[in-house]
Amino acid sequence: MTDIEPKRVGIIGAGYISAVYLKSNFPQFKIVACADAIPENANARAKEFGIRAMSVNDLLADPSIEVILNLTIPQSHVPVSKAAIEAGKHVYSEKPLGLSREEAQTLLDAAAAKEVRVGSAPDTFLGGGHQTVRKLMDEGAIGQPIGGAAFFMYGGPESWHPHPEFLYQRGAGPVYDMGPYYVTTLVNLLGPVKNVLSIGRNTSPKRTIGSGPRQGTEFTVEVLTYVSAILEFHSGAAVTFTVSFDVTGHNHPPIEIYGTAGSLQVPDPNFFGGNVRLIRTGGKWTDVAHTHSYGDGNHRGIGLADMAASMATRTPHRASGALAYHVLEVLQAIVTKAAGDTSFEIKSTCERPRPLGAIRPVPDFR
Ligand SMILES: NC(=O)c1ccc[n+]([C@@H]2O[C@H](COP(=O)([O-])OP(=O)(O)OC[C@H]3O[C@@H](n4cnc5c(N)ncnc54)[C@H](O)[C@@H]3O)[C@@H](O)[C@H]2O)c1
Repeated sequence: MTDIEPKRVGIIGAGYISAVYLKSNFPQFKIVACADAIPENANARAKEFGIRAMSVNDLLADPSIEVILNLTIPQSHVPVSKAAIEAGKHVYSEKPLGLSREEAQTLLDAAAAKEVRVGSAPDTFLGGGHQTVRKLMDEGAIGQPIGGAAFFMYGGPESWHPHPEFLYQRGAGPVYDMGPYYVTTLVNLLGPVKNVLSIGRNTSPKRTIGSGPRQGTEFTVEVLTYVSAILEFHSGAAVTFTVSFDVTGHNHPPIEIYGTAGSLQVPDPNFFGGNVRLIRTGGKWTDVAHTHSYGDGNHRGIGLADMAASMATRTPHRASGALAYHVLEVLQAIVTKAAGDTSFEIKSTCERPRPLGAIRPVPDFR
């Protein structure tokens, strides 16, 4: 059990995903208030979860709140996170960290100047499925990693989302919306990315909303919707990564990693659990039992819990600003190169986040 006082957290952006964080139950932090540019959204969430609704300015000025949980839309991530830093708060942001490396760098610079922490989703790589894969790789279960394959492909969110336009605008599209899960998971397993090659297309410049009150409404697509990339890692591994909102169906597992002595199937990086499968040279595919906690259910917030615990113990946190910045830069490289500008170089690197310990009744993030 942790004996550290929970960090007091205020949410900015009381939309859909805020409910998931408000349902989380980590002893390392306590969400006490929320705010939103649309006050009714904050009021509704506050009533539902028994917390305080405040204006954004009042929340930022409240000295009892130590951490801002930024759950706004991607276009607002950096402005809201910077306002929180200016107010002297630590920040944990939803993904992506910002719209570009240039914008995100201003955020990391501001945090360094104020000596506050920046953390970011996704944190699914801390789930039991992904930590089990990490342990297997660190133990050499597949030998030296050579490469891999990763796929996120489906027909696109306009089939189910009543307001899908933002998912086809700058800061979104399949690369920025779903890429953070995949690239973060790959960096956790293989380390930082050195270079990217990619091609892409905008298959249907107009799409049509498929459900809800605006069903049948046409909108413009500003992003590439089928992108195929090759990620070269500093370790020497090369991973093909295809991400699309154009594909009716496919049968690829989300991620496979190939090594000199075997291969691993990695669970869907949008989730915390899922099947881990291993084949060793001369053997057969076998399911591997999870060695780590948080391998079932939705544990969004585990990255914030780890950050809160690390603040208390003055150790680095795992879902860090440096990791999110590197992932954002890789995503920007994928999109920029697919759009034809082949001069974009990846300049950042990052540490592989430290693995979590194996199963404990209450993981304490040491
Ligand atoms: N919806 C999902 O399934 C999901 C899953 C994982 C992550 N995310 C991420 O979470 C974030 C939020 O997604 P969502 O689905 O909750 O969106 P949403 O549109 O439902 O909610 C966003 C909220 O932020 C508020 N907002 C926007 N800009 C603001 C600003 N400058 N100041 C104050 N409030 C502001 C909006 O009024 C809205 O209430 C996105 O970055 C998204 O990528 C969403």
